[in-house]
Amino acid sequence: MDLILSERDGAVLRIEFNRPAKKNAITVDMYRALADAFEQAETDAGIRAVLIQGKAEVFTSGNDLADFLAHPPRDESAPTFRFLRVLSQLQKPIVAAVSGAAVGIGTTLLLHCDLVYAAPGTRFSLPFVNLGLVPEAASSLLLPRLAGWQRAAELLLLGEVFGVEKAMEIGLVNACVPAEQLLAFAAATARQLGEQPPAALRMTKRLMKEAMLPAVELAMASEARAFAERLDSAEAREAFTAFLEKRSPDFSKFR
Ligand code: COA
Repeated sequence: MDLILSERDGAVLRIEFNRPAKKNAITVDMYRALADAFEQAETDAGIRAVLIQGKAEVFTSGNDLADFLAHPPRDESAPTFRFLRVLSQLQKPIVAAVSGAAVGIGTTLLLHCDLVYAAPGTRFSLPFVNLGLVPEAASSLLLPRLAGWQRAAELLLLGEVFGVEKAMEIGLVNACVPAEQLLAFAAATARQLGEQPPAALRMTKRLMKEAMLPAVELAMASEARAFAERLDSAEAREAFTAFLEKRSPDFSKFR
């Protein structure tokens, strides 16, 4: 079974997380498939917009925690970071349809999408610190910029779950769309983007991003180094093992 589905629908490339049994948790192989799909979107002139979606019950539960222990991303060449680079540099527009839960990278990847729609009841979270990790996807830079310092600190340092209302308030989500209409609405919007003059669209997206791109690359590189270091930490191992053993983590012994 393909854990990442990617399918052409006219000028739109639809990319779908397809690992419902594990809440669409993303493994190294899935990051590779995601990076390949986004690269195809960039190079194939027939593709004019990308739509990324999960399942109704979950967008993605983020990095696969067991896979992280088995194949930790050691440096910037790791598939996780390759995917994030391709995503953040994509010239074509990206629409996201989010429902259920969007955990970790499931939320941070939205910072690189252009239009984001979410179903009522969607739960977003950035539990990096809670897992003994640090944020990725340049979210340490982009989230304070988007949400303001205190709100970003609340979301990143406490790692609490937040809903669609807050996601709209901080500018992460464009609109809340009823669950039964979400995919059709997002697909229609992606098609609409695909009908815009493509060069003007690409150039406008580039101009909107130009000033931030070098800073985003720098942030991703330092996050990648810190992330790799944190993955080897006793704090992260305790958090991951606790999740897999279905118990609460105990950080009381750490200094
Ligand atoms: N990595 C690995 N496995 C995961 C996973 C992840 N990120 N998220 C879910 N799973 C697995 C569970 O271990 C469980 O596997 P099992 O059926 O073999 O026991 C299965 O997916 C179902 O998950 P469960 O926790 O029972 O579903 P839920 O509906 O109660 O909760 C979530 C859904 C997303 C809230 C919850 O799974 C969760 O918090 N996942 C971890 C998220 C996380 O910390 N991600 C990393 C961010 S950096």
